Amino acid sequence: MTARRKVTIRTLQDMKRRGERIVMLTAYDYQTAVLEDRSGVEVILVGDSLGMVVLGYENTIPVTLEEVIHHLRAVVRARPQALVLGDMPFMSYQASPQDAVRSAGRLVKEGGAEGVKLEGGRRMGAVIGAIRDADIPVMGHIGLTPQSVHQFGGYRVQGRDDTSADRLLEEARFLEEAGCFAMVLEGIPWQLAQRITEAVSIPTIGIGAGARCDGQVLVVNDVLGMSDESSPRFVKRYAEVGKQMLDAFGAYIDDVKSGRFPDPDHSYSRD
Ligand code: KIV
Repeated sequence: MTARRKVTIRTLQDMKRRGERIVMLTAYDYQTAVLEDRSGVEVILVGDSLGMVVLGYENTIPVTLEEVIHHLRAVVRARPQALVLGDMPFMSYQASPQDAVRSAGRLVKEGGAEGVKLEGGRRMGAVIGAIRDADIPVMGHIGLTPQSVHQFGGYRVQGRDDTSADRLLEEARFLEEAGCFAMVLEGIPWQLAQRITEAVSIPTIGIGAGARCDGQVLVVNDVLGMSDESSPRFVKRYAEVGKQMLDAFGAYIDDVKSGRFPDPDHSYSRD
């Protein structure tokens, strides 16, 4: 296998121009980042989804900047060729552009991120501008933005009617003008995602936004089938690792209880 080149924001923009699909996946730890990178994933996102799938929070609201930095550092130690992005957690950027620059700066300087992602459209204009002025690449994120769960009154698909679809298209155009290098489109009808993808020159990365985006992102735990709860419609489970883990833990317990483990092959002897 030929060594692949480091993925940068320019690589992603070139891929859009060539019509080549972009693959983004979340990771929160060193070993998963090594495997994702070896598989050829182009972008690794240390998402604030870590609050739910790693830390057991009910939603992404409680996630702190320190928690994202902690997991980012583990991922960056894999020295991936993939572009590594750090997600900006709730209230690390909303209050002021100054807060936002400091938070983004910590993700880059302490966490080793090569760019940041934040949720929101036009109302984030000053924040995006300030982070960009600090030479930190910004990925936008619009549609069903999980940090707005209370405002939405639940996780609801956005942009289903003409008015909200037009508003999201306008938000997407704004993110491009504001200098975002790419944007996530989450939880919107595929027809709207297609309109946005055709209207902007920066890559769109979809999650629950159909096949007409420039790339796709999923949460790694969903891809691996870690949870035994039913997955949302947009998730495709590529493995049932949760079940395999349960089987392995059960077999280990049986072996220890019955005295089958450790056997001589797994024990040291004096000679
Ligand atoms: O936090 C996250 O993992 C995300 C992606 C699913 C887009 O924001």
